[in-house]
Amino acid sequence: MITVRPRRLRTTPAMRRLVREVNPRPSQLVLPMFVGESGADISSMPGVRRHDLDGLRRAAVDAVEAGVGGLMLFGVPDEADKDDRGTQAWAADGILQRGLSALREAVGDDTVIMADTCLDEFTTHGHCGFLTPDGRVDNDPTLAAYVSMAIAQAAAGAHVVAPSGMMDGQVEAIRAGLDGEGFEDVAILAYAAKYASAFYGPFREAVDSTLTGDRKTYQQDPANRREGLREAELDLAEAADMVMVKPAGYYLDVLADVAEISDVPVAAYQVSGEYAMIEAAAANGWIDRQRAIDESVTAIVRAGADIVLTYWAKELAGWWK
Ligand code: PBG
Repeated sequence: MITVRPRRLRTTPAMRRLVREVNPRPSQLVLPMFVGESGADISSMPGVRRHDLDGLRRAAVDAVEAGVGGLMLFGVPDEADKDDRGTQAWAADGILQRGLSALREAVGDDTVIMADTCLDEFTTHGHCGFLTPDGRVDNDPTLAAYVSMAIAQAAAGAHVVAPSGMMDGQVEAIRAGLDGEGFEDVAILAYAAKYASAFYGPFREAVDSTLTGDRKTYQQDPANRREGLREAELDLAEAADMVMVKPAGYYLDVLADVAEISDVPVAAYQVSGEYAMIEAAAANGWIDRQRAIDESVTAIVRAGADIVLTYWAKELAGWWK
């Protein structure tokens, strides 16, 4: 005789609502946004745009009205503004700094404004750091650029800086640099476990990336789970205020590991390729778009994310309100 029947808890919508283990909410969603000198659609990410400054302001206000918890800004400089060191990344009038000021002006403290702290959009070679004469990504000199960039971002109005370049020691260096300039209250969201992933493909179109080679000497091998934990532990020891796992959907084991040990909030980044796959399948009528989006983000929260970066943040916030 069957006495234990899990189906009893699934009998009605009311019962299912009662026993739901996670209830994702709009305020834990962060919308990644792109700003450039001119606006453009991104063909591999239908529905996502690179904004000019006016478009950015409008889109930010819309997202905040929908209830998103934060905005993560990436800068896309004109080709002519790139150089081998990425100097526009920390210029006070660089596109990312102007975008951050525009965001702060448009939405003030009503949402959390985050800045991507990485050189790859700004360098001609597309790498996340300075190169040695023989073409290797040079860790320690790059840290000084990240510090300058974080300070410029804080001065432009970012509440959070998010080093995504996977240089060793980046969190500690940025913390010291921010504190030295009086930005003790600017938080660091550390890309703790970031993998060398094929799923960043559409993003590289979005930022007009001119990457030569790959990022395998600084981003992690997708085969490595334990290493994700090690990277997170290091960032926590360096005083990261939040730690992130990226990509999200294919790295739920890493995310669950990090959530288990972290004493600070854990974020996960549902990346451009995860977005493009669902959009493409839905456009072909092969998948139920809304359910697939909802399920993909709910699964990330279930695995342990307190915060989810997703290009669907605004739309999801509308559905979840
Ligand atoms: C690097 C960076 C990347 C993404 C965010 N920050 C690209 C990369 O590492 O090549 C990818 C985001 C996405 O795919 O949505 N600054």
